[in-house]
Amino acid sequence: MHQVQGVVARAKGEPVSIETINVPDPGPGEALVKVQACGVCHTDLHYREGGINDDFPFLLGHEAAGVVEAVGDDVTSVAPGDFVILNWRAVCGNCRACLRGEPWYCFATHNATQKMTLADGTELSPALGIGAFAEKTLVAAGQCTRVDPSARAAAVGLLGCGVMAGLGAAINTGAVTRGKSVAVIGCGGVGSAAIAGSVLAGAGTIIAVDVDDRKLEGAARMGATHTVNSKDVDPVEAIQALTGGNGADVVIDAVGRPETWRQGFYARDLAGTLVLVGVPTPDMRIPDIPLIDVFGRGGSLKSSWYGDCLPSRDFPMLVSLYQQGRLDLDAFVSEEINIGDVESAFEKMHHGDVLRSVVIFS
Ligand SMILES: NC(=O)c1ccc[n+]([C@@H]2O[C@H](COP(=O)([O-])OP(=O)(O)OC[C@H]3O[C@@H](n4cnc5c(N)ncnc54)[C@H](O)[C@@H]3O)[C@@H](O)[C@H]2O)c1
Ligand SMILES: [Zn+2]
Repeated sequence: MHQVQGVVARAKGEPVSIETINVPDPGPGEALVKVQACGVCHTDLHYREGGINDDFPFLLGHEAAGVVEAVGDDVTSVAPGDFVILNWRAVCGNCRACLRGEPWYCFATHNATQKMTLADGTELSPALGIGAFAEKTLVAAGQCTRVDPSARAAAVGLLGCGVMAGLGAAINTGAVTRGKSVAVIGCGGVGSAAIAGSVLAGAGTIIAVDVDDRKLEGAARMGATHTVNSKDVDPVEAIQALTGGNGADVVIDAVGRPETWRQGFYARDLAGTLVLVGVPTPDMRIPDIPLIDVFGRGGSLKSSWYGDCLPSRDFPMLVSLYQQGRLDLDAFVSEEINIGDVESAFEKMHHGDVLRSVVIFS
């Protein structure tokens, strides 16, 4: 057993605190990982606000890279010393999605079996089955994906959640290909990654939509060809105007609110695709849209879980593109912070001051 420091959300809406936590040695199928870097994602804030579920206390953090310290007896996929990115949807190999050859939809929850606890024995719920705002964390071995150890942990760890979600929302779920027009609503970490993914896939027009000019400036640096501040102008009209009056082939909602989803619905070209990658809260409802518009406009309305990624395929490939200078993951790292700074990082995220604050563990 290991006693380490971790960032815990004890109750709904309350500031997070640093707690001493107990991390068990890995049992069968498990790996103990010494975390090197972990990004602060909006989903961590959703957890703290009770927007995901009520299983407090949460051990937050889930966009991480680190080094495997120990593995359970039967584990062969990773070994101590391996540099890994943690993934929150490990492929189980046995569920109906895996068995039919679509492992990126794996329906099984494949996390560590043993529980990490507070010092008093209270069981922790690790965010997305990871809990990596901690010096060490216990995960299922399948949640560890080995990548090039020379890569910068703060940058490639972001592939563990938000950046992968955005890249994959464009490339995998939205099937953006060369020449397509794309609009991305919400240009935080996830939306900016959707823009970067659209660039990688060879999209033509890439329209960034946000309510914050600073985010739009960042989006332009990521490769957006046009920017629209939806506080000032109607984004549907603006996207249509920028696409010859037609609308975009693919619209990605990286906010996840009824009003942004509605904008995306109407900003598509006929037979266009709307991808919902932002996560709504349970109280939100589909906006009131005439069913005839769903029929008449055709196309597809999709959700993107984790960018429909396959970690074993996508993480090493994206790390390689990063190492080659073709995918600027460093651009997502706004600041490197300490474990005690997560609450202020939430504030900065809330005020739109950062794309990603990344906690660095020494
Ligand atoms: N589907 C997945 O697998 C997955 C994975 C990671 C994160 N997410 C979700 O993606 C969403 C975005 O995450 P993030 O880390 O990029 O958050 P973020 O806070 O960094 O970015 C959100 C952006 O949306 C903008 N915004 C807010 N309201 C808007 C509006 N009405 N219109 C236009 N823009 C608006 C903000 O200015 C900000 O730039 C969150 O809901 C998060 O939970 C989903
Ligand atoms: Zn996340």
